[in-house]
Amino acid sequence: MRECFPFQQGFLGGTSARLGISLASDTFIEIDHVTFGYDASRTILDDISLKFQRGKVTAILGGSGCGKTTLMRLIGGVHAADKGRVIFDGEVVDTRDQDQLYRLRRRLGMLFQFGALFTDLTVFENVAFPMREHTTLPEPMIRDLVLMKLNAVGLRGAAGLRISEVSGGMARRIALARAIALDPELIMYDEPFAGLDLISMGVAAKLIRTLNDITGATSLVVSHDVPECMAISDHVVLLATQGRIVAQGTPAELMASNDPETRQFVRGEPDGPVKFHYPAPKIATDFGLTA
Ligand SMILES: Nc1ncnc2c1ncn2[C@@H]1O[C@H](COP(=O)(O)OP(=O)(O)OP(=O)(O)O)[C@@H](O)[C@H]1O
Ligand SMILES: [Mg+2]
Repeated sequence: MRECFPFQQGFLGGTSARLGISLASDTFIEIDHVTFGYDASRTILDDISLKFQRGKVTAILGGSGCGKTTLMRLIGGVHAADKGRVIFDGEVVDTRDQDQLYRLRRRLGMLFQFGALFTDLTVFENVAFPMREHTTLPEPMIRDLVLMKLNAVGLRGAAGLRISEVSGGMARRIALARAIALDPELIMYDEPFAGLDLISMGVAAKLIRTLNDITGATSLVVSHDVPECMAISDHVVLLATQGRIVAQGTPAELMASNDPETRQFVRGEPDGPVKFHYPAPKIATDFGLTA
């Protein structure tokens, strides 16, 4: 499979990191005391600090609504932090600086939570889209690159299909081929396993790990699929509401943890320090069974 990856040679904008001559810091993304709310009435992330290591797969695990997608939007410069800084390979992300945003996003591949493929275009056209938008490569070269990216996700044979003709699992892999179209240095995956059957899930998980290792990219996976993330990540962050960090470490460290909240998290127990029930009066009181 190795020969399938032109970006191995830094074909499109390679970096010293990919050649193994990393002069830069080991941290690729730093979240430095970030606080953020979509409006003043509610804080979504409250003074959160995290570091994502260059060349590693980091998983952020957390329940629905804890702010995982929001964190990715902050890294991509879609929203600005109310307080604190997001640092992208040593540069503070400034959402007012359009030139910087364009440059940073060119280095970033994103697998969106809800697919975001162009349904009227073919599989081929979807993967070619970012290449046509961001490069002046001649058409025969784009063709070869698209087929290589599709080959990497096992779908070269599906190049001519329309998106409406592919399954959900295939769509996820096409989105992945598009996310890596420009040889990104950072790949962010938002819920890459949601809605996939077990086999497709295993395929997606293996692909994330393989792409990370072959390209030397830094990968960030947000998900609530604990076993899949534990299997492919170098580092795992457990997130609770308002971006509170419950624990972080290697998968083995978290699995061995004696902390009750961490145990509940990684074992998927329905009740524990994080309660299944929203705070409520005693059930007997609600049903009028007590005096
Ligand atoms: N564009 C928006 N405007 C206002 N509130 C938003 C917006 N996007 C998300 N939120 C709110 O911010 C909180 C965090 O949302 P976010 O999408 O980051 O959660 P998540 O951890 O990705 O959840 P899920 O696992 O369900 O995808 C939620 O309460 C959500 O309702
Ligand atoms: Mg989300």
